[in-house]
Amino acid sequence: ILLQIGLFIASYLIGSIPSGIIVSKVFMGIDLREHGSKNIGTSNAIRVMGIKLGILVFLLDALKGALPILLVRLMGHLVGDMSTYITIFNQSFNYEILFGVTAILGHTFPLYIGFKGGKAVAASCGVVLVLTPIPGVLCILAYIIVVAITKYASLGSTIAALVVLISTLVQLLVQGRLYEEMFMFVFYTLLVIFIFVRHKDNYKRLLNGTENKMSFKKKS
Ligand code: G3P
Repeated sequence: ILLQIGLFIASYLIGSIPSGIIVSKVFMGIDLREHGSKNIGTSNAIRVMGIKLGILVFLLDALKGALPILLVRLMGHLVGDMSTYITIFNQSFNYEILFGVTAILGHTFPLYIGFKGGKAVAASCGVVLVLTPIPGVLCILAYIIVVAITKYASLGSTIAALVVLISTLVQLLVQGRLYEEMFMFVFYTLLVIFIFVRHKDNYKRLLNGTENKMSFKKKS
């Protein structure tokens, strides 16, 4: 249990690392929080720094979500008794997603920069890619398509979040694993709601026509 607590703390600290700010300072000598939408996530990184550095920020942020779960699995192999199962109503559920959720909370409320973090999209994507790779890839495609067509990152993230939920539900139903994976699916649903809440200012701007636009075109 001590190891588990240690890993939860490590997950939060990993999630707290502000990749967007680090990349913008190291490669451009600027602070991403002072440009574009002022958000530190992938979308604003692409908007302000271009596609290449934007993808770098995405990879680092997604890794923050993915790494804790991979670490827990590795520890499970190394230290045999690292179980991540909990029994509820006589059914045991794998709760490894909670380590990813902790990292996402770190990304959203980062210790190192006054708890003002991102909107949880890329970090959540990292978690989804590890737990359910097909919905993970589908949500990236959905984001790219919606942003390419509409130029609104927030709309892309919103549709991508819905794609994760629907495609995971379909996959689990087809595989007959919905009940067994209910814990993960409930947390997917909570994450999607959390992402929507983090975008409330974007939705207001979308409604009154003042939302920031972005494109994948190369920055000169
Ligand atoms: O991933 C965040 C995106 O959905 C919105 O970003 O910079 O347009 O507020 P931004």
